[in-house]
Amino acid sequence: MFEHIQQAAPDPILGLTEAFKADPRPEKINLSVGIYKDATGATPVMRCVKKAEQKLLDKETTKNYLEIPGAAEFAEGMRRLNIGEASLAVTEKRVFSAHTPGGTGALRVAADFIKSQLDGKKVWLTSPTWPNHGQVFAAAGVETDSFPWFDAANNVFAEEKALDAINKIPEGDIVLLHGCCHNPCGADPTGEQWKKIAEVLSTRNLLPLVDFAYQGLGDGLDEDRRGVEALLETCPEMIICSSCSKNFGLYRERVGAIHLVCKTADQAKVAGSQLKRVIRSNYSNPPAHGELVVAEVLQSEELTKIWIDELDEMRARIQSMRTLFVKTLKEMGCSKDFSFLEDQRGMFSFSGLGPEQVDLLRDKHAIYIVRSGRINVAGMTESNMPKLCQAIMDVL
Ligand code: LMR
Repeated sequence: MFEHIQQAAPDPILGLTEAFKADPRPEKINLSVGIYKDATGATPVMRCVKKAEQKLLDKETTKNYLEIPGAAEFAEGMRRLNIGEASLAVTEKRVFSAHTPGGTGALRVAADFIKSQLDGKKVWLTSPTWPNHGQVFAAAGVETDSFPWFDAANNVFAEEKALDAINKIPEGDIVLLHGCCHNPCGADPTGEQWKKIAEVLSTRNLLPLVDFAYQGLGDGLDEDRRGVEALLETCPEMIICSSCSKNFGLYRERVGAIHLVCKTADQAKVAGSQLKRVIRSNYSNPPAHGELVVAEVLQSEELTKIWIDELDEMRARIQSMRTLFVKTLKEMGCSKDFSFLEDQRGMFSFSGLGPEQVDLLRDKHAIYIVRSGRINVAGMTESNMPKLCQAIMDVL
């Protein structure tokens, strides 16, 4: 039965972590997968999470199932966080929310929902995009296509090309946008550009699907919501998929959320009933631990304050690594100008390195980055910086 099965290619991101772990060279550096590392290169459990876990441990009385969409307090907290408590969609109760196993789980639930309720609609992905997007939709039987996003010559969002392309997408299709901290290129629209995107989407009657995995790691929790807010101004319906992997450091606990923003509260109930069917036939109901941790933090003023302070520290460290990277390369006399990295936000930037240079970095210097040239800035530290910059100079 299994003899015909062919070896699958390793995952372009998580496969690199496997290769990194197997690499015996002690000075190796992993800048591939999007995880935050502190100044010592560790990915510790956040203080707010430890405190919330302690509270939960003390008060937990059952391991009974959660409801299909998860705990109501989690959904409420995530709506406030991802959409904003003053948003009309939230105050008018036009949003149905569910906990999903991570941001990827949210995307898969969205894909299954699209397949079952909006069959025949294509999902349009930015070019470039996170390599898993295509696979997730393909696995659900949803067709994808792409539109240009990145202006590689100037390392910015390619406003004109993107707007032009979105304008030509067939009415009723779905457009997947990165809420902030574009993965992989780090190039986000400005507030004004978001408004233009929103305008085109609404004129063309396109459904926004926002992948919101890095809130808080760009300019701040509220500031990073500017894209979602601009879309909400003009688009009455949308899907938002968010993740608590990075901003709560809950990677392995698999905590994410899907929000269906509908035109009316009644429609939200009806669409939500279908979303529940999708979840029930997939993983039945979500795992409790991570979402209860998040709910605990978001419900407590004291824990929320600790969380925001920690997030501020993380964001400042990432930005300081961007600055140090650019400065170190300059001081070493690098021929290529990397100063664009300082203008970008979030964990990722495109380095501009090609596949051969990426391979050379790995084979000769034990430095792992994604083959597209994407680097995880959050994996840089003061101590690995000289080696990293020397190696980049060597492969340029
Ligand atoms: C990444 O892009 O590195 C992260 O989103 C982790 C993942 O699952 O790929």
